[in-house]
Amino acid sequence: MKSSLSLLALPASALAGTVRWSGIFNSSATVAELDEWSWSNQIEPWQWYIHGTANTSEYLGLSSSFKNPAASDAQGLRTTIDGTSFWEGQTMERTELIPQTTADLGSGHLYYHFSLSTKTTNPPNASFEHQIAFFESHFTEIQYGLVDGASGTSDNTLRWNAAGDTQWSVQLEAGNWYNFAYDIDFSAKTVGLWASNGSEALTEVVSPVSASVSSNSEDWHVGVLRLPGSGANDAAAEDWFWSGVYVEEGELTTSIGDGSSSSENETTTAAAAAATTSAAAVETTAAATTTSEAAAVETTTAAAAAAAAETTTSAVLPTQIAVSASTAAAEAATTTSSVSSATQAATSAVIAVGSSVPAESASSSASSSEILPAPSTAAQALAEMGSVLKALLSKSGGAHARDFAVRR
Ligand SMILES: *[C@@H]1O[C@H](CO)[C@@H](O)[C@H](O)[C@H]1NC(C)=O
Ligand SMILES: *[C@@H]1O[C@H](CO)[C@@H](O)[C@H](O)[C@H]1NC(C)=O
Ligand SMILES: *[C@@H]1O[C@H](CO)[C@@H](O)[C@H](O)[C@H]1NC(C)=O
Ligand SMILES: *[C@@H]1O[C@H](CO)[C@@H](O)[C@H](O)[C@H]1NC(C)=O
Ligand SMILES: *[C@@H]1O[C@H](CO)[C@@H](O)[C@H](O)[C@H]1NC(C)=O
Repeated sequence: MKSSLSLLALPASALAGTVRWSGIFNSSATVAELDEWSWSNQIEPWQWYIHGTANTSEYLGLSSSFKNPAASDAQGLRTTIDGTSFWEGQTMERTELIPQTTADLGSGHLYYHFSLSTKTTNPPNASFEHQIAFFESHFTEIQYGLVDGASGTSDNTLRWNAAGDTQWSVQLEAGNWYNFAYDIDFSAKTVGLWASNGSEALTEVVSPVSASVSSNSEDWHVGVLRLPGSGANDAAAEDWFWSGVYVEEGELTTSIGDGSSSSENETTTAAAAAATTSAAAVETTAAATTTSEAAAVETTTAAAAAAAAETTTSAVLPTQIAVSASTAAAEAATTTSSVSSATQAATSAVIAVGSSVPAESASSSASSSEILPAPSTAAQALAEMGSVLKALLSKSGGAHARDFAVRR
């Protein structure tokens, strides 16, 4: 274990569990280094390709002033979106880092840690829906702002969504650090939320709920996706700040840190991990819920279908993605122009519609578009997503690039 940990910048000096992956920035980490990532140079610990056309330094920043002061990280991360942040011709503004690792981030019982903050300078615009720290299938995510399609003109709510519903929320306060850990049991198919403010220890604010839990280990979007909304775009820059981003297994570390910047302390970590013997509890209710989920049928609304019919330019997919089209994609592609069925077919390949749909449907009586992946093939299916989408692009005339976050 020590050897696998030695390459990682570690979080708090006393960990309860063991670190599967760490995105914590040590004092020598630079944006230029992050920018060196490419499909032919997949350097750990971060993938960097979902962003606009300007220089990376416009979208990412690293500084000791960007972290939660309570955290032991040497540096925190700034992610910025602005009027240039359209990735590959999409109308969504996106600046997202994704873990780059050979570690399995999609099995067992894991805690996905991160802390999030905003400032009064370059604050987020509450008139737009923001999807934050989301997985490809949107089974869980943080969301901020006016939910796309909701009435009103702005909404300062920072919410946690899982299984298509808002499970917890607060009013966003500039300058406050929001610490989170997604409590994800990939076996039981449940996700819960631990949270705290500032330097406080995490507490469980939502106990685990059943969800379409899955990850292919490279689909956790640490960053911000802003939907275009229906009115005028606001090109003003928005900053979101991050620290303490890591994935832990075993016992949950609830402390945020002691503020010291000693990020490489593998001896302490190993000792703490060895001292930790209690196994994570298994959710015994999971089997039943998983069964009912598997039996459920996706009912994508017309609105969602229309939204899915996003037009993008060609050649938007990373060239490294395999070209073998899956059966689902082939079926979808030949099923006429129905994006709904295309989406549904794609769903069997574990691609999800954005969480804004179920959230919105709660208030609009539209039917849910909860997606129900086949867990055993999730990783494989996700790996084929590029080709699925490519098929959709070329055959049904409208598509997204890598993920199916809904725009409308
Ligand atoms: C700091 O982190 C980077 C990865 O971001 C790693 O390549 C480098 O070796 C680390 N430096 C030290 C001194 O550990
Ligand atoms: C990126 O930065 C370089 C100089 O570092 C500059 O010449 C170039 O114009 C910038 N590109 C964009 C798109 O801002
Ligand atoms: C953080 O502070 C806000 C505002 O006081 C409060 O509403 C919220 O419950 C706190 N969060 C946690 C996890 O305690
Ligand atoms: C948010 O964007 C809307 C739409 O462009 C704009 O009218 C509004 O002034 C912006 N709000 C803030 C606080 O910048
Ligand atoms: C590692 O942790 C131990 C125990 O907490 C501490 O005594 C030691 O100073 C730490 N080492 C570093 C390099 O921070």
